[in-house]
Amino acid sequence: LPVKTLLAIESSCDETAVSIVRGEDGAPTEILASEISSQIELHRVHGGVVPELASRNHSLRLRPLVEQALDHAKLKVADIDAFAATTGPGLASSLLIGSTAAKALACATGKPFLAINHLEGHLLSPFVAETRVPPHLALIVSGGHTLLLEVKGPGQYRKLGGTRDDAAGEAYDKVGKMLGLPYPGGPEIEKIAHEGDPSTFDFPRSMLHDPHHDFSFSGLKTAVLYTLQGLGEPLEVIQDRRTVANLSASFQQAVIEILVGKTIKAARRHGLKLIALSGGVSLNRTLREAFEAACRKHGFRLAVAPPAMCTDNAAMIAFAALLRHLGGESSPLDADIDPNLRL
Ligand code: KG4
Ligand code: ZN
Repeated sequence: LPVKTLLAIESSCDETAVSIVRGEDGAPTEILASEISSQIELHRVHGGVVPELASRNHSLRLRPLVEQALDHAKLKVADIDAFAATTGPGLASSLLIGSTAAKALACATGKPFLAINHLEGHLLSPFVAETRVPPHLALIVSGGHTLLLEVKGPGQYRKLGGTRDDAAGEAYDKVGKMLGLPYPGGPEIEKIAHEGDPSTFDFPRSMLHDPHHDFSFSGLKTAVLYTLQGLGEPLEVIQDRRTVANLSASFQQAVIEILVGKTIKAARRHGLKLIALSGGVSLNRTLREAFEAACRKHGFRLAVAPPAMCTDNAAMIAFAALLRHLGGESSPLDADIDPNLRL
């Protein structure tokens, strides 16, 4: 049978997610279920992800989530042709929960198991509704990664550049914390930045004009910190909403200029006509609009993941796994997780 149904589990960080997809070669993938149980509230009181809490909650929520996904897809476990899970990069104890569950399902049903790279999930997420993955320049901007890659097709990736220190989302989250905003800082900074003037503070655009394709965001983060200290306020209790808005808008403007500038330059240099954006930070509307404008101006096409597929989810993992499964691939049941897995 050419049409395949696949169930995937994502548990690399603080979202437990299960998705069921169906598809065949050369046809857009149908998402039959995409369930997410977010732990953000649980970690918020700690100001960041606590690994021990994350893995315990993955193990509590995974089984009901698998049943919920099967329910939504109106399927039984026996209808699934293959099982997949994220096996890295991410938190070791969290990766183990999802991958062990997917292996157990594969083992019990005698169906294949596929170990999937979380970054490949993000990378391919803008193309779920397409019939194929065309050659393009990919920018992945998430909480853990900032990566520029040349993509020739599924499985053919060449890294052009990455961050030398903080990831873009990590910088958002750290600056959010400095400004006294709730975790995660990314969406909070975007919200309050709408009230601010991005030209208030002139923050550095590190490496923007360097010839390589790497990024650095720690200098920008430190510049925000020094500016805050210069304002003479105790950091935790800054109550001045206008100042926070201006700092947020100015910080965000710097991040966006760096991301857009370096991506356009890389696409030009490598002769790629299509740019694809993915990862949690690509949810940011101001960033999307800046990319849309720059692509229009310079003659590039832009593909962005649908909003529900920007932050961590299992549909993107299921899609990456389905492409591999349709290509005849599978992974051994004793495949290990790798917290530092690369693309
Ligand atoms: O892809 P993701 O869910 O997880 C990782 O694989 O890291 O990305 C999460 C990151 C966080 O750093 C979060 O602050 C950031 O994406 N993020 C945003 C926005 N929404 C989420 N950053 C900027 N603007 C947003 N609207
Ligand atoms: Zn992610």
